[in-house]
Amino acid sequence: MADQKNARVIRKANAFEILNHWVMAISFFTLSATGFAYLFHIAGVVSFFGGPMGMKTVHNYAGLVFAASLILTIFSYLIEALSFSGDDMKWLMKGGGYLSRNAAVPPQGKLNAGQKLVYLMVLAAGAAIAVSGLYLWLAPEVKSRTLSMHFLHNAAFDVYLMIVPFHIYLASIASPGSLRIMINGTVPLEWARKRHAKWAARMT
Ligand code: HEM
Repeated sequence: MADQKNARVIRKANAFEILNHWVMAISFFTLSATGFAYLFHIAGVVSFFGGPMGMKTVHNYAGLVFAASLILTIFSYLIEALSFSGDDMKWLMKGGGYLSRNAAVPPQGKLNAGQKLVYLMVLAAGAAIAVSGLYLWLAPEVKSRTLSMHFLHNAAFDVYLMIVPFHIYLASIASPGSLRIMINGTVPLEWARKRHAKWAARMT
C-alpha cells in the first residue's frame, strides 16, 4: 500500500519486522562475542561478562532470544522465500547484476533470489545452531551425543560466518537505499521499481 504521507514511498518492512530484525542481529552479535570468547578463552571478553559462568549464562539466554526471533522471521519471509520462479533462476545466473554495471536482471518480487537464499540459509543454519545449543545446555550429561552436537553447533555457525558479513555488505554499501528498510521500513517507489519490480507493481 502506498504510504499516505508521501506518495512516492512504499513500505517494505513493518514495525514488528524492523524490531525483530534488530533483536535477531543484536542477539547474534552477543552470541558470537560470548561464543568466541568461550571457545578461545578471550580474557577481556570473559571478564566483561563477569567471568566464565556469567558469560555462559548470557550466551544461553541470548540463544533463547535469538531462537525466538528466528522463529518469528518465518511469518515475515518464509512464504516469499519459498516462491522461487524462473526469473529468480535467471537472476542468480546473472549474479544479481552485481558482476557488471550494465547487466540487465529479470524483475524480482519483495525479496530478490539472493535474499531468498540468504533467508533460507539463515533459517536452516539458525535452527541447527539453536537445537544443538539447547541440547548442550539442557542435556550435557549425555556424553555420546555432545561431541556431535558441538560439531553441529560450530559447523552451522560457520555457515553464519560466511553469510552474515556478505548480507551486511549487500544490505548496506552494495545496495544504497536498502538500509532505511531496517530503520523506518520504507523505500522510494522508484528504488523499488528498479530492484523489486514485481513487488512494486503489486503495491501500486
Ligand atoms: C548491522 C548488521 C545488519 C544490517 C545493516 C542489516 C540490514 C538488513 C536490511 C537493510 C534488510 C532488508 C533487506 C530488504 O528487505 O531488501 C535485512 C534483512 C534481513 N536480515 Fe539483516 N542486517 C544486519 C544483520 C543481520 C544479522 C546478524 C542477521 C542474521 C543473523 C540478519 C538477517 C536478515 C534476514 C534473514 C533478512 C531478510 C532476508 C534478506 O533481506 O536477505 N541481518 N537486513
